[in-house]
Amino acid sequence: MDEALAELKNVSMYFKKGNLKIGAVVDVSLKIYPGEILSLVGESGCGKTTVGKIFLGRLKPTSGEVLFEGKDIWRMSKKEYKEFRPLVQVVHQDSYASLNPVRTVYQTLAAPLQFYKITRTREETEKKVEELLDMVGVIPPRYFMNKYPFHLSGGLRQRVSLARATILKPKLIIADEPVSGVDASLRISVLDVMRRLNKELNIAFLYITHDLATARYFSREGRMAVMYVGKIVETGGINDLIENPRHPYLQALLSAIPVPDPKLAKKKRLLPLRSLDLPSAGHPPSGCRFHPRCPYAKEICEREVPELKDLGNEHRVACHLVEEIPKWALELES
Ligand SMILES: Nc1ncnc2c1ncn2[C@@H]1O[C@H](COP(=O)(O)OP(=O)(O)OP(=O)(O)O)[C@@H](O)[C@H]1O
Ligand code: SF4
Ligand SMILES: [Mg+2]
Repeated sequence: MDEALAELKNVSMYFKKGNLKIGAVVDVSLKIYPGEILSLVGESGCGKTTVGKIFLGRLKPTSGEVLFEGKDIWRMSKKEYKEFRPLVQVVHQDSYASLNPVRTVYQTLAAPLQFYKITRTREETEKKVEELLDMVGVIPPRYFMNKYPFHLSGGLRQRVSLARATILKPKLIIADEPVSGVDASLRISVLDVMRRLNKELNIAFLYITHDLATARYFSREGRMAVMYVGKIVETGGINDLIENPRHPYLQALLSAIPVPDPKLAKKKRLLPLRSLDLPSAGHPPSGCRFHPRCPYAKEICEREVPELKDLGNEHRVACHLVEEIPKWALELES
C-alpha cells in the first residue's frame, strides 16, 4: 500500500468530567491512504467524532502522534500548519448548523473563493459557484444560488456543504454522519455525490457512521474500521469484514441488521449477547472492553487488553480467541 496520507499512532484522548476521566479514544492507531474511502463504524459514544476531530487538528490528543503526509501536525512550524489546515475539511451531520442561515447559497460559496483570492471578479466568482453547484448536483445552479438554507432540503444543504468543503482543494474530508439528517430516500444520492468527489477529485474520505448499510454502500471498494468504547476492534477491506466478520462485536452488529425477506430472516443466525448494556467510556470494563457482553469470553478476556492481530490481507482483529470462536456468516443460501 502507499504511504498513509493521515495517520494516528497510539493516540489516546481523555476528557475530564468532574472526577471522572473519560477515555473517548484509547491507544488507537489508524491510517488513511491517499484517495481511499475509510468507514469508521460504531455505536453512539464509542469515540468516532473524537477520532475525526483529532484527524482535523481540532483536538490535541492526550498522547500519541497525529501525522499528515508523514509530519506530526502538533510539531509543525507555523508555515507547515497553515499549509496543512485547508487540506483536511469536515462535513457535519447537521447541515443547518454548519451553513450560515442569513447567507444565500451564492454568498456561502463566494466568501471563501473571494477570501482566499481563488476568484478575483464577480464574474469569475459566479462562474466558479455555478461549477461547484453543478459538480454536487445542485441543479440548475442559477436557480439555487439565491436561496437560503431554510429553502433547501437536508440533502441539498449537505450538497452545498460538500461543495464548500472542496473549495480549498482538500486531500481528505472527514464526513461525520453526513446523511443521518437527510431523508432516507435522498441518502444514497448524497453518498453518490461524495463518491464522485472521491473519484474525480481524488479526495480521501473518513466516513463516520453508526450505519453499516451506508458504510458498505459508500466504501464498497474501501476499508472499514469498527470501534467499540474508545478502541478499534476490527479493520480491513469492507467486503472482507462484512462477509467474514471475526470480532464477536462486529458479528453481533451484523446479526442485528433486519433482513426484509421473512424466509431468509428465519435462517439468519442471531449472535446472543450476554448483556445489551453499552459500557460507558468513563467506566470501561477491564481487559477486552467487550467481555461483559461477549458470549465467548474467558478469564484472559477480563485480564488482558487484546492487541489488533493481522489475519492476513490487512484484516486485523483485537480478540484473544479469534482463532477459536466460530466464524459467523449471514448463511442466507440453502
Ligand atoms: N468535550 C468532551 N468532554 C467530555 N466528554 C466528551 C467530550 N467529547 C466527547 N466526550 C465523551 O467521549 C465519548 C466519545 O464521544 P464521541 O462524540 O467521540 O462519540 P461518537 O462515537 O461520535 O458518538 P455519536 O455516535 O453519538 O456521535 C463519549 O463518552 C462522550 O460523552
Ligand atoms: S477478547 Fe474475549 S471478550 Fe473480547 S471479543 Fe474476544 S472472546 Fe470476546
Ligand atoms: Mg459523533
